[in-house]
Amino acid sequence: MATLNEEIQRRRTFAIISHPDAGKTTLTEKLLLFGGAIHIAGAVKSNKIKKTATSDWMEIEKQRGISVATSVMGFNYGDYKINILDTPGHQDFAEDTYRTLTAVDSVIIVVDVAKGVEQQTRKLMEVCRMRNTPVIIFVNKLDREGRDPFEILDELEAELKIKVRPLSWPINIGAKFKGVYNIYENSLDLFTPDKQKVSERVEIDDVNDPRVDEAVGETDASKLREDLELIEGVYPEFDVEEYLAGQTAPVFFGSALNTFGVKELLDCFVKIAPSPRPVSTVEREVRPDEPAFSGFVFKIHANMDPNHRSCIAFVKVCSGRFERNANYKHIRSGKMMKFSSPTAFMAQKKNIVDEAFPGDIVGIPDTGNFKIGDTLTEGENIHFKGLPSFSPEMFKYIENTDPMKSKQLEKGIQQLMDEGVAQLFVNQFNGRKIIGTVGQLQFEVIQYRLLHEYGAQCRWEPISLYKACWIESDDEDALAAFKKRKHQFMAVDREGRDVFLADSNYVLQMAQTDFPKIRFHFSSEF
Ligand code: G4P
Repeated sequence: MATLNEEIQRRRTFAIISHPDAGKTTLTEKLLLFGGAIHIAGAVKSNKIKKTATSDWMEIEKQRGISVATSVMGFNYGDYKINILDTPGHQDFAEDTYRTLTAVDSVIIVVDVAKGVEQQTRKLMEVCRMRNTPVIIFVNKLDREGRDPFEILDELEAELKIKVRPLSWPINIGAKFKGVYNIYENSLDLFTPDKQKVSERVEIDDVNDPRVDEAVGETDASKLREDLELIEGVYPEFDVEEYLAGQTAPVFFGSALNTFGVKELLDCFVKIAPSPRPVSTVEREVRPDEPAFSGFVFKIHANMDPNHRSCIAFVKVCSGRFERNANYKHIRSGKMMKFSSPTAFMAQKKNIVDEAFPGDIVGIPDTGNFKIGDTLTEGENIHFKGLPSFSPEMFKYIENTDPMKSKQLEKGIQQLMDEGVAQLFVNQFNGRKIIGTVGQLQFEVIQYRLLHEYGAQCRWEPISLYKACWIESDDEDALAAFKKRKHQFMAVDREGRDVFLADSNYVLQMAQTDFPKIRFHFSSEF
């Protein structure tokens, strides 16, 4: 039987992130294909929800229901156990994605060669940067006309604010795309457009091998040599330590749809990507190889069946061995709990698991006990950190429209906030409740769910706000003066912390200038 340490070392838990349409679903599917988890392309439900711009959120929820099945995909690849954490494609669920990123040890970013760095990628990269998450970049769709690879590299560096280092290099692009030279392994793969077949590998010693000329023609071979020379001149040698520290991102080129460059990416990924790393708690750092189990809830997925309110809480194992039917302490409530049917997704199948190791995700059926960020341990009182809430981008007052049902409304709001659907602030000036979200869809989701699951009715009233920021200061007088001056715009979050509701960017900037002793934070963890 493998030791705990061996189990940890062979695990790779990561997420693939991209702007919608760059090829995340396609790449995920191809990785599953290599892992033998699926056998034909097309088996993974394409995350079409992102293409429904807004409006039909029921349809979206249905699809999200489907996507629970794919929210964690585990499979073995060689000696490695790989866990891919899926992230919702629709930008209105960006908060879900942020939280998922707290449960991964590394990230693969997919970029469309024609479109370069897009808005969503930029945002998600900011979250990675906050946590120094190691990232690998896959530049996709080389079979289509796109931009010059050097230009793409410059853009990646400038826009994602990370040093880049190409580890493979394309030979032409679009209609003339011939293949990829793998710098990491000094090998050459020729492109054959085929969705199922893996590329053809040419045996070569290095790029100066005449077989390169035979394979791609003299002109392209000499262009390749020139490009590689330039790369060696411009980019320092790839340093795994820098990658692991989140300072340098290795870059691969390929075409996910054609399964081209994907195996190279995967092979390099398993070698260099980190196994589960120590995780911070408020009290101390928890190492994965500690014998006692600990983990935290990073995602709660509600069952949309109105007659049967139940959820799955997704727990990331951080240390020790998780066992079915063992007694674990739910730190927030102080209660001991036992889980008789924890599940995991292995090779697309949902199974009850008897044990899980650091890096693994277990799904625990729940009826409202869990809240995002909750810690489970064998008894030690620790609290995992790193699940910040970000300032929402849209705000509305929530009003009760059925006075007979105010208790239900209270309870519903509380539970939906526990699930992380949105954030609640209470305005200290007028006592009104404000719901903050990252997208319009959440308001519809909340209204619908309150009605169908709690029998409560609400309506939304507009409020014009730009951002909510958490404030603090070492100087109590300064804090009091600020709160007095801005009393109409002061609120508290669910933990009772002070939040300043800025109604415009200008007001926020003025406040920052006028009150230098106040620190303004745009995420709840500081
Ligand atoms: P996403 O999850 O990041 O949103 O992207 P997804 O994989 O769904 O891919 C978006 C579109 O890009 C899909 O086309 C997909 O087939 C295509 N695509 C992905 N990789 C490549 C590639 O390497 N080359 C080319 N040419 N296209 C690629 P679609 O027409 O929107 O969907 P579908 O009908 O093909 O499923």
